[in-house]
Amino acid sequence: MCGIVGILGQAPAATRIIEALRRLEYRGYDSAGIATLGADGIERRRAAGKIANLAGILASEPLPGNTGIGHTRWATHGKPTTDNAHPHATEKVAIVHNGIIENYRELRARLIARGRNFASDTDSEVIAHLITAHMEDGAAPIAAAEAAIAGLEGAFAIACIFAGSDDLMFGARRGSPLVVGVGQSEMFLGSDAIALFPFTDRVIYLEEGDSVALGRDKVVIKDKAGREAARATVTVQGAAAAEKGNYRHFMLKEIHEQPETIGRTVAALLDTVNEKVRAPEFPDVHLDRIGQLALVACGTAHYACRIAEYWLEQIARIPVECDIASEFRYRSPVPGTDSAALFVSQSGETADTLAALRFVRESGIKAISVLNVPQSSMWRETDAILPTHAGPEIGVASTKAFTAQLTALAAFTVALGRAHGTVSPETERALCHALIALPRAVAEALREERHIADLAAELSRAKSALFLGRGAYYPLALEGALKLKEITYIHAEGCAAGELKHGPIALVDEKIPVIVLAPKDHLFEKTMSNVEEVAARGGRIILISDEAGHAASAGLTARRITIPTCHPLIGPIVAAIPVQLIAYYTAVHLGTDVDQPRNLAKSVTVE
Ligand code: M6R
Repeated sequence: MCGIVGILGQAPAATRIIEALRRLEYRGYDSAGIATLGADGIERRRAAGKIANLAGILASEPLPGNTGIGHTRWATHGKPTTDNAHPHATEKVAIVHNGIIENYRELRARLIARGRNFASDTDSEVIAHLITAHMEDGAAPIAAAEAAIAGLEGAFAIACIFAGSDDLMFGARRGSPLVVGVGQSEMFLGSDAIALFPFTDRVIYLEEGDSVALGRDKVVIKDKAGREAARATVTVQGAAAAEKGNYRHFMLKEIHEQPETIGRTVAALLDTVNEKVRAPEFPDVHLDRIGQLALVACGTAHYACRIAEYWLEQIARIPVECDIASEFRYRSPVPGTDSAALFVSQSGETADTLAALRFVRESGIKAISVLNVPQSSMWRETDAILPTHAGPEIGVASTKAFTAQLTALAAFTVALGRAHGTVSPETERALCHALIALPRAVAEALREERHIADLAAELSRAKSALFLGRGAYYPLALEGALKLKEITYIHAEGCAAGELKHGPIALVDEKIPVIVLAPKDHLFEKTMSNVEEVAARGGRIILISDEAGHAASAGLTARRITIPTCHPLIGPIVAAIPVQLIAYYTAVHLGTDVDQPRNLAKSVTVE
């Protein structure tokens, strides 16, 4: 949930660390800091708030040295103050940490009893003192770091530098991701490969439990049993996707990328010439043997599951249960012998989803995962992977990953239906035809952008908003409310249109915008009855529908947003575009921090 970076370089480290940290800022932005090795040992600069604050301090108080580590924090233990900002350091070692050390209280008490003085309220600081204690007891730096991590409980990725050892860095991962970047007589550590793109595209993904000792020309990796281990160096793509280009925000860029990212996902999962789904290559999972499915995810990825639930039951005729990952394990689910579980995650690192995946696999259930980040923890641990092809998503509010997840889930539904004989060759052709038309329909939906930007002025005055939908548009209403909440801080609720009269209608007055998602389909008339109920109470209705829907609702709506007429399978994916644009332009109007909204982080690696 925090971002970490380390550089053993040939050029001054601090400015390069700032550049890398900016690319990790999506992971957290409560405070930031850097430590480097100068002639006098470890030097640090830290600041509460965003990396810009740290960069400001560095401009007047630069840091020396070509070796350093940096951190951007999402606070868990201790307020986001300068004292709690990483790196934490002693006279011998500086460390940065992502994760939570669960036994920190006990370790801290022991280290205080030994005479060590703590300067922060964090769990992380114990790591620096523990390594120092081992060094005081005579261990060499790497041996001291290895001994220290053996005593830690919890999840972590860490990077450490040692006073007096300019050609040495230590890293370790247990539960949080860490990659090594390999340069020309330079080595790097980062929470993800994107952070290292300015320096190298050659990376080694450390595996769970690995630790690494780096020199500028040397990488020694040990596995969780402490044996030296060989890990492949791979070249990664996608540097351009991590740039904002001419867009004002990553979120807007990512919204606009969707015709392309959906197109890539469709091309990967469908034989577009013959209009058939490619059978997913799952060596360990047989689609025809899946009798029931649990769909598990968090946040926006969970809403993608909730939409897919309709498809899987209606098209593939498979019983589905959908759950939030943080709840799934704790309600003691009762899987059948023919159950499989499907996990959806952009990052592949979300702690709740990862824990649910591990739980499922320990119960002997096969796990299929819809993932966007190759080589992420879930990617490595799942039985079968259904990749989305959205490319790096930087904006904290998920947009292009969501529609790519939906596209992959729609293709998976068709594949599952085919395997179960519920999707005939003709139906498969029709559904594939719809998916092939999806990028164009999404491009068409984007044409409403100016109109939505105008509407946002009005929405930005609201204290609260309601999103309504029926069928697969109900979970999209939930996603609309989440998107609006997370980047505008306006309270919003998503509601099944038919449920409105059972309580939420009490919220309706002339001040509340009610955004209704209703194309002219078999549920349209029912939804319109609910819209009438809202209109009768003075509610201000913004209808997202196709031309036919707008024509049929004339007189009821205050504002119209038009989406193209399309096949019911792809309708919710197309309607996601105006939902995203509404949140985006309202946030711009309010002047909030769109890409890094308060209190949030892109990758939530704590439970
Ligand atoms: O990386 P994941 O897809 O597992 O992340 C799940 C949620 O944390 C994520 O979708 C979150 O809800 C987004 N901020 C929503 O925009």
